[in-house]
Amino acid sequence: MGEVAGLILAAGKGTRMKSSLPKVLHPVCGLPMAAHVARAMRQSGTGRIVFVIGAGGELVREALCEYGEFAIQPEQLGSGDACRAGMDALADFEGVVLVAPGDAPLATGAVFQAMLDRLESDVAAVLATANMEDPTGYGRILRDDKGVVRIVEEVDASPEEKGIREVCTSFYAFRADALREALPKLGCDNAKGEYYLTDVVSILRESGYRVETAPIRDSELLMGVNDRWQLAIASEAMRRRLLKEIALSGVTIEDPTSTYVDVDVRVGADTVLHPCTVLRGRTVIGERCDIGPAVRIENSTVGDETTILMSHVNEASIGRTCRIGPFANLRPGCKLGEGVKIGNFVEAKNAELDDGVSAAHLTYLGDVHVGPSTNIGAGTITCNYDGFAKHRTEIGAGVFVGSNTTLIAPLTIGEGAIVAAGSVITHDVPPNAMAVGRARQENKEGYAERWRNKKQSERE
Ligand code: UD1
Ligand code: CA
Repeated sequence: MGEVAGLILAAGKGTRMKSSLPKVLHPVCGLPMAAHVARAMRQSGTGRIVFVIGAGGELVREALCEYGEFAIQPEQLGSGDACRAGMDALADFEGVVLVAPGDAPLATGAVFQAMLDRLESDVAAVLATANMEDPTGYGRILRDDKGVVRIVEEVDASPEEKGIREVCTSFYAFRADALREALPKLGCDNAKGEYYLTDVVSILRESGYRVETAPIRDSELLMGVNDRWQLAIASEAMRRRLLKEIALSGVTIEDPTSTYVDVDVRVGADTVLHPCTVLRGRTVIGERCDIGPAVRIENSTVGDETTILMSHVNEASIGRTCRIGPFANLRPGCKLGEGVKIGNFVEAKNAELDDGVSAAHLTYLGDVHVGPSTNIGAGTITCNYDGFAKHRTEIGAGVFVGSNTTLIAPLTIGEGAIVAAGSVITHDVPPNAMAVGRARQENKEGYAERWRNKKQSERE
């Protein structure tokens, strides 16, 4: 069969999305739709992948550059014209060309494999077909006793043809030479005035080539996304697929309808995901963790046996056996060791917290390193910003920071030091010292009674 290359058509305007973001960049479970298509193609052994994009498709190019190369379709004259632009980039390629729409994110490697399997030596093209419950919007397959005769687009179909439920899915496998021969013969005499790629099928047949179909039983895999509702439906389907994979690998998902994962999320065995858990980006969760309810974790790693409850974690790395939440906010640059405890209403940013650190309540830790086993009392604030620049706080091992302490950075607190509750600490504390930075308390005997009596007499 020779080499396999791929064309992903991604230059369409996507008008029906009503979006300023190009359609094929709309994410499904964290990955642009067109990137899903490219990944599926790769799984079937495709070598070069070319995305056909529109002029000014810089955003598309940037978002998809790790998945393939690019060909420009200067004007959006239809899917046939897009394919022509793509074939210019594959000018010297001999072999099989897989063509797929950039807006069909649910395709799998198996779909492409099924088409390749049907591409016997005397077949010029294989198109994947599906029987759609509701075929509205798809091109319908017209057959005779020798096979597919042509494809008629929804807008061009007669009422009778609209009743056909076997549809073109825009997934094709072509022999490069046959496709090259057919593309210049495309016309645009149709309801949309566009060059339809679907017309290649009848052109090939008229030239005496054999065209085969690869019927795909699970029509969902070939679903095209043209509007936001279809995007929602596709996202839901992808999410279920991912959750099922994770569950079957040994993870308990209490409520799949309220659990959200992106494609590259990994979760270790015997972890429990409670309702309303959202795991985004490249998040990796360890084994035997307890995550949720109401947790959102983005692009972060979480070690084994860690518990996270009702919290937000973003671009952070959390060690093993930590306890986070409820209501913790770990922002980018946090690096937590083993057995760290972050309790309610604690916010941390760019904070390196070594093993056994505890910040259990009402605290802000920003631009800070805290040594092992140090206790940060309730209401501790690192004042890392003076209105002009950020400053660091360095806290040693085994330090005890009393409640309601204000740490004015830049600042170093030495190992084993104690900071008295309610202190405002403005300069460094040596190791094993006790720092007291607050007004001394004075008790005035009998003053309370005298004060009350005075107030009472004023009222009378
Ligand atoms: C297309 C098929 C239809 C099929 C359906 C499956 C044609 C004419 N029709 O219709 O038979 O049932 O897909 O989902 O092919 N594109 C370009 N440049 C263009 C126009 C389109 O790159 O000038 C790309 C789009 O980005 C998209 C793909 O081609 O990825 C299909 O275009 P779209 O407008 O979505 O076609 P459909 O109406 O969905
Ligand atoms: Ca489409």
